[in-house]
Amino acid sequence: MLKDVLMAKGRFVVIEGIDRSGKTTLSRNLAKEFQRGGNKVYLTHEPTSFFDTGLDVLNRLKKDDYMILLAMFIRDRLEHNKIIKENLESGKIIICDRYSLSSFAYQGVFIRDLFNDNDSFLNWMETVLTVSHYKPDVTVFIDYNGKYYRQGNDEKRELEIFEDKEYLGGVYDLYNMAISKKIFFDPGIVVDGNASKEKMLLDTISKLEKYL
Ligand code: TYD
Repeated sequence: MLKDVLMAKGRFVVIEGIDRSGKTTLSRNLAKEFQRGGNKVYLTHEPTSFFDTGLDVLNRLKKDDYMILLAMFIRDRLEHNKIIKENLESGKIIICDRYSLSSFAYQGVFIRDLFNDNDSFLNWMETVLTVSHYKPDVTVFIDYNGKYYRQGNDEKRELEIFEDKEYLGGVYDLYNMAISKKIFFDPGIVVDGNASKEKMLLDTISKLEKYL
């Protein structure tokens, strides 16, 4: 199925969800599946490997440095877009682990406190993030909250400022707000993050086909 639908031209697919929701596994499995169907795939993620080069900024930033972080993620995304564009133009399927919605949800948790009302917050975030938003063909949200952490996953060290469970609860809520208002989620699909990785892959593929 995928082969017939996707051979023709490049497509930009974004995978989103909170830390440990299984984004990286789903991205890899999806990439393999597309390759099996004869497509050329470019698997990528944000922050990119250039994000913090030489600055070591993440080790010294605090939670109230959210504006610096937002600017850094946007800068990283602007550079990343050039690579995404090149790969799209050469007909590849881009699978991108995190994109604009991550900035919306992760930085938004702090930024929303600056505004008196929710609509002003949403308008501001949408406007600011749109400058670096190269529109995906579809965004996949892995709906996982659990205890805000998936147990027994990789041993990778989390960034300290993103570790807090209460914080991740706020991030999850903002993802849901974006989804319900179709902010950076148009079109978008939701997959069940509590399912096994095999089921999640099948679920994603069946929902994706409509948009690719
Ligand atoms: P990542 O390396 O993807 O971590 P993980 O593999 O655990 O998902 O991303 C590191 C952290 O960066 C992650 O906790 C989310 C955060 N982040 C933002 O806060 N804003 C952004 O725009 C992006 C892309 C990531």
